[in-house]
Amino acid sequence: MPTLHLGFLASHGGSNMQAIIDACKSGRLDAIPCCVISNNSDSKALERAAKEGIPYYHISAIKYPDPKELDKAIIEKFTQHGVDTVILAGYMKKLGHTVINRFNGRILNIHPALLPKYGGKGMYGNFVHEAVIKAKEKFSGPTVHLVDANYDKGRILGQKKVPVLPDDTIETLAERVLQQEHVLYPEVLQKIATGEIII
Ligand code: GRF
Repeated sequence: MPTLHLGFLASHGGSNMQAIIDACKSGRLDAIPCCVISNNSDSKALERAAKEGIPYYHISAIKYPDPKELDKAIIEKFTQHGVDTVILAGYMKKLGHTVINRFNGRILNIHPALLPKYGGKGMYGNFVHEAVIKAKEKFSGPTVHLVDANYDKGRILGQKKVPVLPDDTIETLAERVLQQEHVLYPEVLQKIATGEIII
């Protein structure tokens, strides 16, 4: 099977991106991290890319106020670096239709809950874990899914369950889920690389 050529979009910490890069470096994942784009010039994700020697770019609505130009800039960089699979790793912006169409069916996202529950508008970051705790769910966990025009509604490619403990706070639950995100994302990508999951 062909090696995946990954292009990342990340807004903040980039710990999922790092887990995927580490999996590539250790040979657990047959993929090449080709390029990192962040809308946030101060993001740790860009710092990590610099450290890893991966080409990185700050592309934001401030630099490109016209959404069409913003999409064009993202597509240009990914194309220039031979990206065939786009990885959303804590990307806090909605992707434009042009980008979605260009990489049609090959854009993945990770969400910190067991979709289809706790997804959609307003369900991000700590709001997700807060809602899970409030609903007294017994389990939570990350979901990797394909991205289409309907947020958090694309085909589910993989999930991992973790328990929600009676004394969990948003922080303790978020940490338990994040640890599994770091396992799940590279695993799903490797299944795509080997053809076990077809996208
Ligand atoms: C993760 O919780 C992920 O589920 C969500 O954004 C967060 C990104 O964390 N989509 P990081 O930037 O990878 O550390």
